Parts: sequence; C-alpha cells; structure tokens
Amino acid sequence: MILLPLTLIFSSWYTLVHAGSQTKGQNCSVSNNRLQIGTYQFYSDCDAQTYCSSQGICELKGCRKEQYPFGYSPTATLPPKCPSGQFCPDEADACQPWLPVDSACQLNRDDQCEPPANWQQLADTSSYGRNFNGSVCLNNVCMWANVTVGLSCQVENTAYIAYAGASEFIDVVSRGNCQMGLYCDSQSLVCMQTKQLGASCDADKECSTLNCLSSGVCGLSADTPKQFGIWVYLMVGIGIFGGMFATLVTLFLIHRRQRDEEREKRIQYWHEQNAFRQNIMQLKEIARTSILSLPGHGNNSKRSTVCSRAGSEEPILQHSVHKASGLRRQFLSDDDNRSYDEITLQDEQR
Ligand SMILES: *[C@@H]1O[C@H](CO)[C@@H](O)[C@H](O)[C@H]1NC(C)=O
Ligand SMILES: *[C@@H]1O[C@H](CO)[C@@H](O)[C@H](O)[C@H]1NC(C)=O
Ligand SMILES: *[C@@H]1O[C@H](CO)[C@@H](O)[C@H](O)[C@H]1NC(C)=O
Repeated sequence: MILLPLTLIFSSWYTLVHAGSQTKGQNCSVSNNRLQIGTYQFYSDCDAQTYCSSQGICELKGCRKEQYPFGYSPTATLPPKCPSGQFCPDEADACQPWLPVDSACQLNRDDQCEPPANWQQLADTSSYGRNFNGSVCLNNVCMWANVTVGLSCQVENTAYIAYAGASEFIDVVSRGNCQMGLYCDSQSLVCMQTKQLGASCDADKECSTLNCLSSGVCGLSADTPKQFGIWVYLMVGIGIFGGMFATLVTLFLIHRRQRDEEREKRIQYWHEQNAFRQNIMQLKEIARTSILSLPGHGNNSKRSTVCSRAGSEEPILQHSVHKASGLRRQFLSDDDNRSYDEITLQDEQR
C-alpha cells in the first residue's frame, strides 16, 4: 500500500473540518500551532487564509506551497509560491531560504532542505516522493539521501491513522536516508537492497515497487495500470463477430425455410394448374375423337360435351392433388438444389 497519497487526502479533509476559525486581525496563540494527531496536518487558530503572527494576531499568508491551496475561492488572489532556493514553511508566513544539512526542518518537508551537489544522481524521479532533489527531512533534521549499501542509516517511522470504511487502522510510513534502490532496515539500521517482485517482505519500503502485499510478498506497484492479455481481446473480438455471424446464419436459415415453403406452395399450385390443363386437353381430345367417331355431329355438340365433362370436377381435382403430392415428395428429397424450371421440365417430359 502507498499511504503517502492517502495521507494527503485525509489531511485535506481535516483542513476543511479542523482549520482554525479566527480571521484576519483577530487574536490567536502561537502556542496552539501543532500537527494534528493521526494526520499530521498543520493546525493554527487562524483560518485557511491567515497565519498566527508572533504578535498573536492572524495575518494574511505570505506564501503557499501547494499549486491549489484549500480555503480560497476560485477568483481569490493567492499568496505567491516560493522561487527555487526558498521554501514556504507550514505556517506560510513568508518564504525562507533552503536549510543546510543538520538544520531543523518540519515533518515530511524534504523540500525545506538544501539539495546536495550531486542532486541529479540522488533525486527520486518517481512519483513516490522518497526525497526532494536528493535531500530528506528525517526526525526533523535535514540530511541527504546518499547512504550506500551496508552503511548505517537513519530511519523515521510515522504512524498515521488511516480509514477503511468505518474502521480505523494505523499505517506506519518508514523513511530513511539511503540512496534510491535501497531501504533503511529498521532493526539493523543499515541500508539494504530493495526486493524484487515476489520476494518476501515485512514493509512497503522493502519492495522496489513500494507495495508489500498482505500475503507478505512484494506485489506490483499500486499505480500499475491493469493490463489484459492479447487473448482477452481475441476472445472479445471472436465473441462479437461470432455473435453477429450466428445471427446472420440463423436469419438466413429461417428465411430459407420460409422461401422454401413459399416455393413449394407455388410448385404445388403450378402442378395443379398443369394437371388441370392436361385434363382439359385430354377431355378435349376425348371429346374430339368421340365426336369424330359419331356420324352426323358438328362442332356445337363437341363444346357441350366438354362443358358437361368439366362440370363434374371431382375426378379431375382428385387426380391433380394426387399428382402434386407425389411431386412434392420428389421435390423435398432432391435437397432443394434444382431450380423450379428443372422440376417442371422433368415433369413435362414424363
Ligand atoms: C482572544 O481574545 C479573547 C479576549 O482577550 C480571549 O478570551 C480568547 O481566548 C483569545 N483567543 C485566542 C485564540 O487566543
Ligand atoms: C533541485 O536542485 C537544483 C540545484 O539547486 C535546482 O536547480 C532545481 O530547481 C531543484 N529542483 C527542484 C524541483 O526544485
Ligand atoms: C552524505 O550526506 C551527509 C548529510 O546527510 C553528508 O554529511 C555527507 O558528506 C554525504 N556523503 C557523501 C559521500 O556525499
């Protein structure tokens, strides 16, 4: 766990809740200046925009250390930030020059200490803030984070009160003056190499990722973004396109069945009509032959014969229905590949 950012969150919350209430010009007592229990947030009798002067009166702040300080309206003019080589103390009365090694500094204010000559080599370039420009403030004394492996170091343990939901717990932040890549062992007070991922650990500082898991091994850095393997993207892609394809195939099959049913109906109808037509042709032929065989009969009686035969529909319809159902079986067994024309052609050739 990385508790430094968490601490910042809680300290900002306490600023809103526990800041002093005396405004500019009102009285205050410097002896009330303190760090709040658990959060170590600086507190004075004066409100967020003022500090308690040595005369016991709240005065407007002379500097700020945050880019966006609390307690100011968006349009308010902010006190200036201090230039490089100076710092703004917790009281925020005025900028002060950097403090040399062994001077008194305020808790967690590494930026108050003068950087070493080789600050570029010693500086913590990560976002963890283990030192500022190679300098650290440990136990309220300025020093440099320059101790190498095996040499004796100093350690500062600060117990913060942290909150997880409704419950409180103590989180100990341990800092030392070892160089980057090392940590100050609390028992032997000697700088040791930080441990790699998966190594067993007792505290966050022992891991190169600053994250000692509750299982007692070094875990990934707490701000590591969650990465998914290529196979996850593949599975999601296959799922999307597979779903689309399955929908298309299902729709195609449903429509094909509907189409087939319609076509079957049309073929049945065509065969009925065709059978009907052939029956009529046969009737015509029969009538013609019967008329021709009868001596002394003309065209008129032929027509009447056709009409009288056509009037008895039942045998014709029975014939045609029977024929159509036979074709229907043939059509289904042909696995749908032949065209309508092929089927009808074959039928005509019979
Ligand atoms: C401010 O002055 C009043 C009256 O003198 C006193 O009662 C009060 O305790 C003072 N407040 C602080 C914060 O010193
Ligand atoms: C670190 O120290 C160097 C040398 O004093 C200074 O130029 C630089 O601005 C410092 N860096 C920061 C972030 O203050
Ligand atoms: C390491 O830093 C200390 C101050 O913390 C300083 O007195 C000492 O000279 C430095 N050593 C080296 C080798 O720079």
